[in-house]
Amino acid sequence: MNVVYLDNNATTKVDRAVLEAMLPYFEEQYGNPSSMHTFGGSVGEAIETARQQVADLIGANADEIIFNSCGTESDNTAIQATLASYPDKRHIITSRVEHPAIKSLYESLAKDGYRVTFVPVDGDGNLDLDYFYDHLSEDTAVVSLMWANNETGVLFPIEELSRNVKERGIAFHTDAVQAAGKIPIDVNHTGVDLLSLSGHKLHGPKGVGVLYIRKGTKFSPFMIGGHQEKGRRGGTENTASLVGLGKAAELAREHLERGDMECVRELRDKLENNLMDQVSHTLLNGNRENRLPNTTSIAFEYVEGESILLMLNEHGICASSGSACTSGSLEPSHVLRAMGVPFTAAHGSIRFSLSGYTTEDEVDFVIEKVPPIIERLRQMSPFWQEAVEKMQSA
Ligand SMILES: Cc1ncc(COP(=O)(O)O)c(C=O)c1O
Repeated sequence: MNVVYLDNNATTKVDRAVLEAMLPYFEEQYGNPSSMHTFGGSVGEAIETARQQVADLIGANADEIIFNSCGTESDNTAIQATLASYPDKRHIITSRVEHPAIKSLYESLAKDGYRVTFVPVDGDGNLDLDYFYDHLSEDTAVVSLMWANNETGVLFPIEELSRNVKERGIAFHTDAVQAAGKIPIDVNHTGVDLLSLSGHKLHGPKGVGVLYIRKGTKFSPFMIGGHQEKGRRGGTENTASLVGLGKAAELAREHLERGDMECVRELRDKLENNLMDQVSHTLLNGNRENRLPNTTSIAFEYVEGESILLMLNEHGICASSGSACTSGSLEPSHVLRAMGVPFTAAHGSIRFSLSGYTTEDEVDFVIEKVPPIIERLRQMSPFWQEAVEKMQSA
């Protein structure tokens, strides 16, 4: 059975050119970049090329880029390193819809005695700006806001927010893990001090991340060890993956410049419009205009997302639901809850996330398969029967 992979916000396929760039660093150029001999030294040069390629994707200087193991490590490092640099400040801010890499960290910092503000969002997933600005204070050590939401694709106005926060002398971190490679990012147009990326979201390998640290930003290393990354992150470099990430960043930049994401947007819109036209009682989760071009989160009311996923899986279609398994029961995700998506809709929410590899034939296949699946599940759903009875008696 062919796989139709529409779960690219979870992870992406490694591009063939990325894999080919990586392979020599397993068998031939396996030296340690810290070694004194030329054999190791040449590997160090490859890492510096990768650093430049990543820097070019976001308009940074190469020496503002540090490599690490994943987006989660980048997020944790950004926050912990900033807090260590401002030991007297005890207040931190984020939003209610962050990825667990920030959400759980902030919850844990709250237990450690930090005063934490989780800024709400509206029904479309837009940040409550008044609430945000009202809660900034002299005591705020760091603001962390995601550039693009992983579930809905909704974008926060990071350029404007970070400039305003910077004017107040507060450190600003953004989790750009989902944004990178999908929309243009230029750190020079922002007041962002720290920015996180992850290799496996942009057709690079898993287990490799990036933290951008603007020149002059106070930073106390989180991972202490050897002198790698100029003492900012200890640990022998994951050479092959760094080379792969560099190549992936270069390709992502070329694709953005060529306008490839517009084709992805057209396919996403075709999928979304057709499903929402053909299936009754559907809702779009998140702001329709202001979001990533590859993501759609559609609520199919009165059915369970997990059942939809299982039936899609029978056709080889990969997507994600808007629920998470919490203590054995399926709960709507914190993102959909924060947006106030009604229970009956949040439970039946499915995220389709496309990539440059997605074809029109695949989208047509999904458009053909989804409506009868929802129809079948609704026939079995007591919530649907109840809703139909209410509609008939109204
Ligand atoms: C917005 C966001 N931040 C952080 C992460 C974590 O990245 P990683 O899987 O590289 O740790 C993810 C992964 O899904 C994400 O979507």
